[in-house]
Amino acid sequence: MHSGGHTRRMLLKGVSAGALLSALSPAAARIRMTGSARIEALIAGMSLAEKAGQLSIYSDPVRAYGAVVNPGVVTQGLTEIKARIARGEMVGLFNGVGVALGRALQKVAVEQSRTGIPLIFAADVIHGCRTIFPIPLGEAASFDLDLAERTARAAALEASALGVHWTFAPMVDVARDERWGRVAEGAGEDPWLGEMFARARVRGFQGTDLRDPTRVLACPKHFAAYGAVQGGMEYNTADISDTTLWQVHLPPFKAAFGAGALSTMASFNDIAGVPSTANHHLLTEILRDEWGFKGVVVSDYTSEQEVVAHGYAADERDAVVKSLTAGCDISMQSGLYYKHLPELVQSGQVPIAVVDRAVRRVLEVKQALGLFENPYRSLDPARQVNDIRRPETVALAREAGRKSVVLLRNEGNLLPLAKTATIALIGPAISDRADLPGPWAVFPDVASHVTIEEGFRAAMGSHGALHVARGCDYEAPIEGGIASAVAAAMACDVVVLVAGESAGMSGEAQARVDIGIPPAQLALAEAIAATGKPLVVVLRHGRALALTGAVRNAPAILASWFLGSETGHALADLVFGDAAPQGRLPVSFPQSSGQEPFYYNHRSTGRPQTSDEKDYKARYREVTNAPLYPFGHGLTYAAVVYGETMAKGPLVRDGRMIVWATVANTGNRPCHEVAQLYLHARVASVTQPVRVLRGIRHLDLAPGQVVTVSFDVTEADLAYVHQDLRSFADPGLFDVWIAPSAQGGTSATFAMTD
Ligand code: NOJ
Repeated sequence: MHSGGHTRRMLLKGVSAGALLSALSPAAARIRMTGSARIEALIAGMSLAEKAGQLSIYSDPVRAYGAVVNPGVVTQGLTEIKARIARGEMVGLFNGVGVALGRALQKVAVEQSRTGIPLIFAADVIHGCRTIFPIPLGEAASFDLDLAERTARAAALEASALGVHWTFAPMVDVARDERWGRVAEGAGEDPWLGEMFARARVRGFQGTDLRDPTRVLACPKHFAAYGAVQGGMEYNTADISDTTLWQVHLPPFKAAFGAGALSTMASFNDIAGVPSTANHHLLTEILRDEWGFKGVVVSDYTSEQEVVAHGYAADERDAVVKSLTAGCDISMQSGLYYKHLPELVQSGQVPIAVVDRAVRRVLEVKQALGLFENPYRSLDPARQVNDIRRPETVALAREAGRKSVVLLRNEGNLLPLAKTATIALIGPAISDRADLPGPWAVFPDVASHVTIEEGFRAAMGSHGALHVARGCDYEAPIEGGIASAVAAAMACDVVVLVAGESAGMSGEAQARVDIGIPPAQLALAEAIAATGKPLVVVLRHGRALALTGAVRNAPAILASWFLGSETGHALADLVFGDAAPQGRLPVSFPQSSGQEPFYYNHRSTGRPQTSDEKDYKARYREVTNAPLYPFGHGLTYAAVVYGETMAKGPLVRDGRMIVWATVANTGNRPCHEVAQLYLHARVASVTQPVRVLRGIRHLDLAPGQVVTVSFDVTEADLAYVHQDLRSFADPGLFDVWIAPSAQGGTSATFAMTD
């Protein structure tokens, strides 16, 4: 009835936008103008309830999958949801997938609601949707940014085929305390690596045009400093300096927004007493005024309500005032904005301009996704069939799995194993299909996952023999378990023991005081080691672990995280040498849990332990300060030797300087080496870490091959956050390493001059 041209003509004639909207029939009210004219026309005509609805998202009660990823909050049934959508009072839903109902709900929104504003469907698609890739921490171990972009792109393809427009990912929190369960979801302890992965993942999710129906809107989270929760305890306070906030925790967010991410999620924690969700300095002054962010901020599952429990707001209404005013645009799940905003505006406690500002941001994001032109984007029944578990996606999961595994130790070149060997495969995880994706997969296609046992059997065929024994549960012994595992070990040439955490032991709300392997599995490991059989340990984990006893002493150790759908195939590729390990640790392995937070890029302190001296040094009584396995560490099946780091200084502030070193494969197998560039400022007005990562190079080396690897160093690599929060480098002396890890390599020294 009312065409876009008609709408525009009415506006041109000076008819007010509000009058225009009221004049439209429900079905035609989806204004067909473009750009800000459409958005302003909509805002001008919306009721307070419609506006509050556009600022309220709820988890999908109908299309929800089995995984429980949030605490239960009373939610609405389908009838109520449909009625709200028909009234135009809901921005969208999250964590439900499926095209048929998605289309039906969208139809209600665009055809029955007065405003005709389409819904947005969101979901926690963290590391794959139906096909699951390694957990983000594991994938970070690949140090492979192209891989991260490709897996995010593949996750977007599957998610959008199931009706998702917006993923609540990537998590870009820098996490340096391995007790925190959510270490699993990020890129580890290093801010620079975090920036790189943040960019790659945003690019992978969003592509270059958000209107592309095979892409999804990214949501870097959790803004900010959630990784700095004290003691690694979930939801705890983060009490950090401004320089640490700016130098460690904010850079990956800034990088993600720089890559085009148009949404973010406020974090649960407070920073120095101000909960992020109601933190005006964070959500408005930094995010928008300083960084120019144009997207939308969503709370984290009732976090706007939780500012009351924080002691920052007196009651729910106060929480709404403070959160919305601070810059948190959308309330997730609590329903508080919907419940209180109309009355808060009417009573003058919230200016309508503040509500309109948030609604405008929401509509702009919907517009950027192309939802006004194409409300059924990403709701295509054919794609729901064709774009799920495509062969190339499954192959990518196997590739990503292989590239994420870190060979921590390989005494006597125990690995790779011969496929003709008689192998005992032992441990609670070996045949556990449901556990393979790890803690953060909401929609996995579990039936298609390849268990470790299946992967080994497929690789070995009829060559060797495989004896399997569970041995124990993840956290409890099983009757006769150790005895049968020992019997299996005794019957074999070599044992592969899979030990570590179950999926449920890491992720949200799974902080641990002891990051070791559970006692039941340690007892199993001791019994297996006592057989004297050669022992390969495959670790499964969502964080760095503190290894002890027979696991720590095993001659060969692979860190394998949670590898996702293709776990069995990926592991078998490496164990049998069809591929060589190339992963690198994105988190330091400590000697003991009590050292956490334990990270390579710490400050020196005034009494660093530089020799064996023990007294009056910054150290613990029981253990050395050296990590068990440092950040960046990872062996290959070859032997790699680094030459001396060379630097030809000085570096002039506006110039660049080359540093280089030779890297040689002195082994007899090809390998993939990841050379790392580290820097250190000797003197700074805010003391700087003993080393910081500033570059990586992937090298494929044939046996006997020697290459010279070089990096450009510029002032930007030396810049740090000063007390006034400006970032630049000071002239002076610097150390530089080209190294295989944060502990290795030789250093060269150079000066930077003005
Ligand atoms: C809480 C988590 O902190 C967040 O990462 C997630 O996106 C939401 N729940 C929604 O499931």
